[in-house]
Amino acid sequence: MFIKTIAAISFLLLMIIFLGCKNSDPNHLYAEWRIAGGTNELTHYSSLTQIDTNNVNQLQVAWVYHSEKNDSTQFGSMQCNPIIIGNILYGVSPKLKLFAIDAATGIQQWQFDPTDSIANKSWHRKSVNMNRGVAYWEEGNDKRIIYTVGSVAYEVNADNGKLIPSFGKNGGINLNLGLDRNESTVFVAPTSPVTVYKNLFFLSGMVGDETPGHIRAFDVKTGKQQWIFHTIPYPGEPGYETWEDSTAYKYLGSTNSWAGFSLDKKRGILFAPIGNPTNDFYGGQRLGKGLYGNCLVALDAATGKLLWHFQTVHHDVWDMDLPAAPALVTIMRDGKPIDAVAQTTKTGFVFIFERETGKPLFPIEERPVATNTSLNKEKLWPTQPMPLLPKPFVRQVFTEGDLNTILGDSNFQDIKSRYSSYRSGNMFTPPSKEGTIILPGYDGGGEWGGPAVDPTTNLLYVNANEMAWVLNMVENKPDKKSIRNNLEAGTSLYGLYCMGCHGPEQRGAGDYPSIVGADKKYTNEKLLELLSTGRRMMPGFNNLAKEEKQAITAFILNDKNLQKKIYTGPVEKIRKAPTALYGFTGYNKFLTKEGYPAISPPWGTLNAINLNTGELVWKIPFGEFKELKEKGIPTTGRENYGGPLVTAGGVLLIGASADGKFRAINKRTGAILWETDLPAPGVATPSVYEVSGKQYVVIACGGSKWGGKKSDAYIAFALPKK
Ligand code: HEC
Repeated sequence: MFIKTIAAISFLLLMIIFLGCKNSDPNHLYAEWRIAGGTNELTHYSSLTQIDTNNVNQLQVAWVYHSEKNDSTQFGSMQCNPIIIGNILYGVSPKLKLFAIDAATGIQQWQFDPTDSIANKSWHRKSVNMNRGVAYWEEGNDKRIIYTVGSVAYEVNADNGKLIPSFGKNGGINLNLGLDRNESTVFVAPTSPVTVYKNLFFLSGMVGDETPGHIRAFDVKTGKQQWIFHTIPYPGEPGYETWEDSTAYKYLGSTNSWAGFSLDKKRGILFAPIGNPTNDFYGGQRLGKGLYGNCLVALDAATGKLLWHFQTVHHDVWDMDLPAAPALVTIMRDGKPIDAVAQTTKTGFVFIFERETGKPLFPIEERPVATNTSLNKEKLWPTQPMPLLPKPFVRQVFTEGDLNTILGDSNFQDIKSRYSSYRSGNMFTPPSKEGTIILPGYDGGGEWGGPAVDPTTNLLYVNANEMAWVLNMVENKPDKKSIRNNLEAGTSLYGLYCMGCHGPEQRGAGDYPSIVGADKKYTNEKLLELLSTGRRMMPGFNNLAKEEKQAITAFILNDKNLQKKIYTGPVEKIRKAPTALYGFTGYNKFLTKEGYPAISPPWGTLNAINLNTGELVWKIPFGEFKELKEKGIPTTGRENYGGPLVTAGGVLLIGASADGKFRAINKRTGAILWETDLPAPGVATPSVYEVSGKQYVVIACGGSKWGGKKSDAYIAFALPKK
């Protein structure tokens, strides 16, 4: 009997150990893709091993899903990281339709078109932007997909694609409400997936320049707003004193957490990366350190209370938003595990903190930076934080020695003479009227794709751009004379609200289209509508009065009759230009005559950094120009957007590059093991999953960002049948 009891107890103990192991088994945690980014830790890691370094070169297309049925009219770029629940994949089309497909075959189960929805119609907000992913919530048989389209958050039944009528109003909530500002002037359009915690979900979003990017929690079941964290603090809240203007919280905008969140579910901590306040490049009207601009904040997920924060750039005037949610990792120090949070940045630094306290895990020094600005009323912050480790993963200084010499002498002389007319130096060189070289560029360094981390080695993988831009500031002369007609008003308003993207001569630059000849394409009514709704990366302008919009369209459409009409709208903005004593002439890359970067290669890189030691383990130029390669020029790297994922099978899988390739890379060495051409650049992060014992990797390819290549395809790869 004694022996029997011992045996029974041992058996029980074994069971407990076995079950205990099973629950905390990292492989179990990482075998699915239930959350965009893999898990709440946002490590982009999968424990699946079927596809490995030996067989990855045999990958074949398993299925292709055309999310817009090959309709090739108007696609924006698709940046969605799809989620896989059981054997169903949920993703978003270029026109932001939500779909469910069989993850093994690509066969559609249902599609939800937000333009048909009742909730959307009742708010007359059609603004369509981008979507980088959706979220899943379940309770028993109640299974829901939560996703945002423009200013609306929807909940859709995951089984049949029908709106959940008990959520908000007919299945949606209007995100422009609940911000303590006049609803008709705000514009919120989250582009990142919401984060779910118990019966709450969290969002902030892309916002208009006069809309604050406060972080909010909503009840999953009702859609009611549960808490709000003011990213521009109110009187009495910590950080309020960091704004010289005590009324900043009433009118300033942005300071938004557009890149999504990571979540420590066990501790109930939400980690939010925040962008800079309005205006991006001129801080003379928002003096001070400006918390919580450019901060990583840790919030109590249940209440929204601030636990700690770290500001990565003080008083930012370089558009150095924190571009991605941080990865939650467990690093090893002196043989002991420390739960940490690793934040990649546009500047090329990786900041690593202890998760509960925010204590830096490598020393960070406040170092003096240039403050000699020629812009009126501007006061730059005298120091900036710089971690001593890891070393930056991109160049942060542009000297003459960094000019591109690989394209021959005449090219070099041209860029050299332009270079000498600009202000240059390190990444904190003050913006100027003569032009300041911005490096790392507005899109990083690291960008919204975020890093991947292998929890078994603590290597962090981050893809990066090394593109220099030129920032030219212009003074917006306050208009003292009377503003008589639509032409005068429209010209000024264009300078205040449109020139930043469409340029002083309306010719656009980079991702922003030329609007010269818009009169051939748009009637007055159509253009007014576009200004209200916005479209993809163009925001809506509900903050403008209808007379102001009318003046702008009269100016753009060159409509002489409308231009002559007496202007009766508000003039304060034009006169005082409250948020814009200075504007800038547009997002201009520093390029050679042929359009290659004026900086020497590499122009894009992929980096592996050891988070335990802070050391760079390997770095490769990432992406290529075929024509340069054919001339025998070593791989130059190329601009890239969207992130990597890493697997226990030893491979890093990544699209991202403008060259339109999808690649598998050896995670230990950086060697390219396999590559294939996508129908359009895969400007998105891939997902890995398994159905019926077979491992798949899937990526959205809709890179209308480059070369006019458009697609609506989701492509899954798998190994051939044995
Ligand atoms: C943040 C950058 C940004 C700002 C500010 C901006 N736009 Fe745009 N605009 C865009 C982008 C991006 C597009 C392309 C939208 C798309 O993908 O369809 C666009 C498209 C347009 C188009 C349509 C072009 C076409 O060929 O169909 C017009 C017209 C236009 N913008 C006018 C304006 C006016 C007027 C303003 C100022 C009130 C303005 N934009 C402010 C980024 C911007």
